[in-house]
Amino acid sequence: MDFPTFVGARKVAPDVTTFAGFFPIGPLGILPANSHFIHARDPILVDTNGVAFEDQYLEALSNVIDPADLKWIYISHTDLDHVGNLDKVMALAPNAKVVVPSLGAAKFGLRESFDMSRLVPMDHGQRLDLGDRELVLLKPPTYDAPETTGFFDTRTRVLFSVDSFGALLDAPHEETEAIPEATLRDGMTMWAGIDAPWLGMVDKSRLGGLLNDIQRLDPSTIISGHLPATSGRMIGTVLGNMLGSLSEDRFQHPDRETIEGLFAQPAVA
Ligand SMILES: [Fe+2]
Ligand SMILES: [Fe+2]
Repeated sequence: MDFPTFVGARKVAPDVTTFAGFFPIGPLGILPANSHFIHARDPILVDTNGVAFEDQYLEALSNVIDPADLKWIYISHTDLDHVGNLDKVMALAPNAKVVVPSLGAAKFGLRESFDMSRLVPMDHGQRLDLGDRELVLLKPPTYDAPETTGFFDTRTRVLFSVDSFGALLDAPHEETEAIPEATLRDGMTMWAGIDAPWLGMVDKSRLGGLLNDIQRLDPSTIISGHLPATSGRMIGTVLGNMLGSLSEDRFQHPDRETIEGLFAQPAVA
């Protein structure tokens, strides 16, 4: 794969449709790049994917829901792979309010022209009522922007982990179960080291405790920005990969060669 590639929308879990794309990251592999839609009574779009997918993404979105019926747009953090199509979606969805972490709202305030009146700042610990369920906002165990906030769906037990549990892959896999075991383990370790380069410095027992908290939460599915949907029977493997890398000190700050690899890719098709 030489160019960012959007593969389309697919139902991946109860009440969840994922809009899946992939970014080639030079020699490092292929990074899944997902946005999601929750089929709640008050429908909510979760992140807006990268601008490289704009036309195909907006068309796929319109096939899943008339954007005018969207009640909410959930923004996990302000990275461009998550807000790339936000302005376009906001224009197509005039009835939708934008839920965003407070620090993310402050960052949007630095933009030259942005309709701040549509923002609803909410942070981890708060609950968003969607009529037939609540989203309990929470901090994922790893992240690359301080505002990052994911959620747990009280009706389906689906966990949205944002950048956490992402992986650099060997091919555009659409299911975590289809990824070879070693590819998943090594790809998760590499992605975590790039996305959260402070991981090698953290207290292992504290981070291990956060990962165990997720196990205890017993999600039915984990949806991530950067991994295909992970169903219940694979969640132990995914958490085990993180715990293994933690205990073996495999999380490393990427070296210069690795960073240069990030920029050795074509930006647009
Ligand atoms: Fe990010
Ligand atoms: Fe991301």
